[in-house]
Amino acid sequence: EHDIEGKLPLLGKKILVTAGPTYEPIDPVRFIGNHSSGKMGYDIALAAAIEGADVVLISGPTHLKVKHERIKVVHVTSSQDMYTACHEYFDAVDVAVAAAAVADYRPKDVAPQKIKKSESTLVLELEKTKDILASLGEIKKDQFLIGFALETENEIENAKAKIRKKNLDLIVLNSLNDEGAGFGKATNKVTFIDSDFNEEPMELKTKEEVAQDIINKIKNRYNV
Ligand code: CTP
Ligand code: CA
Repeated sequence: EHDIEGKLPLLGKKILVTAGPTYEPIDPVRFIGNHSSGKMGYDIALAAAIEGADVVLISGPTHLKVKHERIKVVHVTSSQDMYTACHEYFDAVDVAVAAAAVADYRPKDVAPQKIKKSESTLVLELEKTKDILASLGEIKKDQFLIGFALETENEIENAKAKIRKKNLDLIVLNSLNDEGAGFGKATNKVTFIDSDFNEEPMELKTKEEVAQDIINKIKNRYNV
């Protein structure tokens, strides 16, 4: 494929995208999950591929489907699976976008058999999962690393802290405060913050539009 007319500005660039929730097993038939649809990550993957990038989409459980000759989908279930898959591909990519809603905690012990009901209460001990994005930030060379932040208070301050903690180049702060925005909604109100702490508040947009804005940030990074 040629880029004679500049129609495929990201041709030759490799992009890793994480998407969707993770499921953390409790026993053979149960898990702890969340309501992430995966749509944000899938929209980013498709927008990147349309502009010429080779995309590895590392996806937690979702009903979404995406088909493009430049998208390879790697299906994972738990945060540990997602961590392993990300580290398999990260070295070879130019850009990584972490759009997945990774569980922060998982059951410390997974019961080998289905847990039978007995007492009136059941206590599950949870342990922290690995922070996938922070682990990529630790080993990144010249990859452009983009994360998301979902905050309900001290949004800007917390998002900036995440930029430093995870060694990010750009964070997409998702506001739950504004009406119509956030988890499970069709629209998002985001603010971009870069590693120099420049803030760029965006209008309320569809996820497709936010995905395109993220792709535009990537194109700016490479002056294409
Ligand atoms: N993330 C990740 N691995 C985790 C947790 C989060 O890769 N175990 C990534 C998400 O994909 C997102 C970013 O880190 O890009 C921020 O996620 P968020 O939940 O907002 O922040 P946390 O660091 O988990 O902190 P907290 O939930 O306490 O605000
Ligand atoms: Ca979290």
